[in-house]
Amino acid sequence: MKKLFLTTCLAFAACTLFAAPKTAKIRTEQDINTYVNKMTLEEKVGQMTELAIDVLGHWEDGNFVLDKDKLERALVKYKVGSILNSPGPVAQTPEWWQKTIRTINEYSIRNCGIPCVYGLDQNHGTTYTLGGTLFPQNINLGASFNPELARKAATITAYETRAANCPWTYSPTVDLSRDPRWPRVWENFGEDCLVNAIMGKSMVEGFQGTEKNIDKYHIGTSIKHFMAYGIARTGKDRTPSYTPEYELREKHFAPFKACVEAGATSVMVNSGSVNGVPMHINAKYLTQWLKEETGWDGMLVTDWADIDNLWKREMVAANKKDAICMAINAGIDMAMEPYDLSFCDLLIESVREGRVSMERIDDAVRRILRMKLRMGLFENPNTDQKDYPLFGSAKHRKVALDAAIETMILLKNENNTLPLQQDKRILVTGPNANSMRCLNGGWSYTWQGKNADKYASEKNTILEAMQQRFGYSNIIYEPGVTYNNEGLYWEENEPQIAQVVAAAQKADIILACIGENSYAETPGNLDDLALSANQRQLVKELSVTGKPIILIINGGRPRLINDIEPMAAAVVDILLPGNEGGDALARLLAGDENFSGRMPYTYPRHSASLTTYDYRVSEETGTMEGVYDYNAQVNVQWPFGYGLSYTTFTYSNLRVDKPEFRNGDVLTVSVDVKNTGNRIGKESVLLFSRDMVASIVPESRRLRAFQKIELKPGQQQSVTFRLPANDLAFVGTDGQWHLEQGTFKLQIGNQHCDINFIAD
Ligand code: BGC
Repeated sequence: MKKLFLTTCLAFAACTLFAAPKTAKIRTEQDINTYVNKMTLEEKVGQMTELAIDVLGHWEDGNFVLDKDKLERALVKYKVGSILNSPGPVAQTPEWWQKTIRTINEYSIRNCGIPCVYGLDQNHGTTYTLGGTLFPQNINLGASFNPELARKAATITAYETRAANCPWTYSPTVDLSRDPRWPRVWENFGEDCLVNAIMGKSMVEGFQGTEKNIDKYHIGTSIKHFMAYGIARTGKDRTPSYTPEYELREKHFAPFKACVEAGATSVMVNSGSVNGVPMHINAKYLTQWLKEETGWDGMLVTDWADIDNLWKREMVAANKKDAICMAINAGIDMAMEPYDLSFCDLLIESVREGRVSMERIDDAVRRILRMKLRMGLFENPNTDQKDYPLFGSAKHRKVALDAAIETMILLKNENNTLPLQQDKRILVTGPNANSMRCLNGGWSYTWQGKNADKYASEKNTILEAMQQRFGYSNIIYEPGVTYNNEGLYWEENEPQIAQVVAAAQKADIILACIGENSYAETPGNLDDLALSANQRQLVKELSVTGKPIILIINGGRPRLINDIEPMAAAVVDILLPGNEGGDALARLLAGDENFSGRMPYTYPRHSASLTTYDYRVSEETGTMEGVYDYNAQVNVQWPFGYGLSYTTFTYSNLRVDKPEFRNGDVLTVSVDVKNTGNRIGKESVLLFSRDMVASIVPESRRLRAFQKIELKPGQQQSVTFRLPANDLAFVGTDGQWHLEQGTFKLQIGNQHCDINFIAD
């Protein structure tokens, strides 16, 4: 750290040898045009380049130190316009970030007056900053069905990111979590495109604020990863996806469209290929769909090293130069290189050879400068830490705690096992019981989230929260199974189940905390969707004791538990609730709070029966009539939207103002919801539709709207949705939207009604 300070001083000293650096006077769109006309090709290409911070320094005594020569080379000689990421697997203080980004900016501004745009993956809070607030991951926010939570989490994250002098995040992620094998399921808001669209939009508004220009308490966003990233045929990260274009248009494109229409400053591209074409060279989707059709004037950044991947992994280009030309011509504006400055040389050559037009370069640079302008970087390239007194404050933590409470899902509660009685002795067991790493998941302090227990040591694991809430003397702890935190994310140590079974004799009830250890991206690939054999064995042996078992599932994707679920009296899925997750769970288990989360994806029961709630109707076939007796029903563990509460809600009186409707109509759909239990509770009211007959096989159901309400015992509320008729349309094989004559079924809770579309 000391060394860094010295380097920083050197940097400032070097600056003073030159005229005091000033930012370019870019205040308007017109200024951007004038400026771009004056820029050299080298300056323009520099703006289009993004490097990882590792390129700017070296490690000394465990500290990352910025290096004057490297800063000069990247930022002054090559005029690189953007830097990203945290150096190595360590988290840094806000003070470190302030100084580091300030130093980088000094060099950038000296170069051609254009401040650097620094980007970080603030996926569930201030990922790489010590002392910041870590919220539940996006999959939890999806489970809350409450867009206000997403907005609040993003607003606070933006504030705390600016406190560390960073103006830009690669968030929110709105890929669809439609394949449980994929290691990035938890980075999104679940399997449904409407939930991702609404949550994504709320996050954009939270991060950026609602004004076109972003103030010093807000940051720019990069919506990722455009598009169809999460449905790889292999289930493995960054491998090819195949899907009909009508699904692309209707489902995968929808959240990106919603976010760019909400003013998102940038979009990051899917690393993989879709229908054989790497997304990074797909001009149709990048330029035509995303930029031209929506009129979006933001900028497109590659994902990590994805131009290189075009020739090294995807084999669609013979060499780097060809790959660069293909990507830039398809619509890429900024290359997240992230280590190699040859990108600049090769792109300059390509422009001189006429392989990339100056018009395309100017368009890219205008988009990048526009983003910097919106972030206010020309006026104030740096922030002042003093302006952010609420960084990591109790106020922010409270929002994270409330969010965690609203995102946990009660899936089973036989004989009112929960809430737990105060005087019972509870055996807490399982590898997830005493781990901040497990509560947070990946993108927590470091990329893989491995060191969360060190960095969040003052936060409560499930065990610690249980001890505090139920009294130390009432809690017995025996993990039985533990993760090997030095190894791969799925590695476990030799299990010690007999000790747990022995300890169970002294307990009244067992809290088995099972699931996954943290991972991110490709290292999180898996071979078997089932929960680990050791963990299932632990539960099986405990079930023999006859003590009631509560399963706490804690992980980033649904792992199969069909053999142990019947042994549990209660099941709670907490997904990845973040730093306040332990306390949130203890409060819910004690009954201080009520459950209101719902499954954000379809939780599979069997490895060969993977589906989503909006499957095409013919994917499910019942017992056949006649002599053949077969059953092809897809049997899931828990359906999308499922979740219990300590209270009960009843639905009645579903009504629609226009049972017969025509093009352009807006339907008003209402239902009465009553809290029929004896506790206050929140309920997510979900409106589904089904097209009964269509010219392509219709979907079983589609979520069309949702609203979360809170009701006191006995209270009834009428919930109303405005549903534009066009929302019921589908995309056909011709790529066009169709609303076909005939019957649609609407469903809310157990209420159904039919409505008829009359085509003109
Ligand atoms: C990930 C992105 C991330 C980027 C920058 C990539 O490996 O796929 O989600 O934003 O790295 O850290």
